[in-house]
Amino acid sequence: MNLRSLFLEYQAQTSDTPLMLEVERAEGIYMFDKNGKKYIDIISGIGVSNVGHRHPNVTKAIQDQLDKHLHLMVYGEFVQSPQVLLAEALAKTLPSHLNSTYFLNSGSEAVEGALKLAKRITGRTKLIGFDNAYHGSSHGALSMCGDETFKSRFRPLLPEVYTIKYNDTSAENLSVIDNKTAGVIIEPIQGEAGVKIPTNEFIKALRKRCSEVGAQLIFDEIQCGFGRTGKFWAFEHFDAEPDILVCAKGMGGGMPIGAFIGRKEDMALFKNNPMLGHISTFGGHPISCVASLATLNTILEEQLLAEVHDKGELFKNLLKDLPEVKSIRSIGLMMAVEFESYEKLTTIISNAMELGVVSDWFLFCSDSMRIAPPLTITKEEIQEACELIVKAIRLS
Ligand SMILES: Cc1ncc(COP(=O)(O)O)c(C=O)c1O
Repeated sequence: MNLRSLFLEYQAQTSDTPLMLEVERAEGIYMFDKNGKKYIDIISGIGVSNVGHRHPNVTKAIQDQLDKHLHLMVYGEFVQSPQVLLAEALAKTLPSHLNSTYFLNSGSEAVEGALKLAKRITGRTKLIGFDNAYHGSSHGALSMCGDETFKSRFRPLLPEVYTIKYNDTSAENLSVIDNKTAGVIIEPIQGEAGVKIPTNEFIKALRKRCSEVGAQLIFDEIQCGFGRTGKFWAFEHFDAEPDILVCAKGMGGGMPIGAFIGRKEDMALFKNNPMLGHISTFGGHPISCVASLATLNTILEEQLLAEVHDKGELFKNLLKDLPEVKSIRSIGLMMAVEFESYEKLTTIISNAMELGVVSDWFLFCSDSMRIAPPLTITKEEIQEACELIVKAIRLS
């Protein structure tokens, strides 16, 4: 059996139409299949390769750590320099109250930790999410997603979960957040909804309401954080700060890692009643932490944020006038290009793949094409990618 048949035979499948690309090697914005055919990755392995595939700073950090140690002990017992230095570096990127980081292995896991922390801080149980939100596939994270089709076959999920409207400042909407509410989780920029950008007024009103009733405001920056929108954290676009911040994906530079970050005094609640109130064997794996620190330093030292806005604009300018493109929603290098239908988009994505550009749909927005390339993409590479995307559209 060849690899493709083995993939279909032995690897659990979650769709009848996996992309089935057999990548042998990847570097920068490019992936190469076993025949040497080159593909441009304009989705960064879905929001992961923010500094490109195999950035030399990331691979060097991994190699250096390989020669020191791998896993030593479950999370939070030993003083491991990769975890300590990353926690310190994260705190330096954040407002002073977000000064304590708990490391995990994925976005969903980090969301679980954040929800538990909100319950401990408030002593309450009610949780609030938003329509079309995506927070992960584990039971708690899935409970907070805002798409009933995605959730219904897995009920019962968490009780006392309410879904309210994104970007709606009305009292009717925000008053669902009340003094029984433990936490409100929101993506400052919604990803799987197809890049939905709220107003500053909405985020400010949400912050105000949470403060009024003593609910924890949790920002899920798993997809929009780590430079994706042109600021290191997406919430920096707004006049509001979260009580708890969740990150993952692009944080690891290609390695699995997630984290929730909060106030030191709040995190301390996990120490008592029960002791060890949140446990992870592999959370903060040394290899993932050094890769993440190298990623963070690369974004800052190579000043990658400075050009993200202009690069996004270039993509937009090269695509917006095509008659097939209905609209483009974007912030920095987080973009959704809207077409007339799912069928049209599917043809375009498949044409693009043939031509050597890998794109994707969004979970909860089936007519829009995802564009979220590595932040390291050059203007020439954007031209190259857009020429192929235009060709894919013309052939559709
Ligand atoms: C906003 C957001 N939250 C949470 C998750 C879940 O992260 P993971 O797939 O690492 O569990 C994702 C993944 O796409 C996401 O985009």
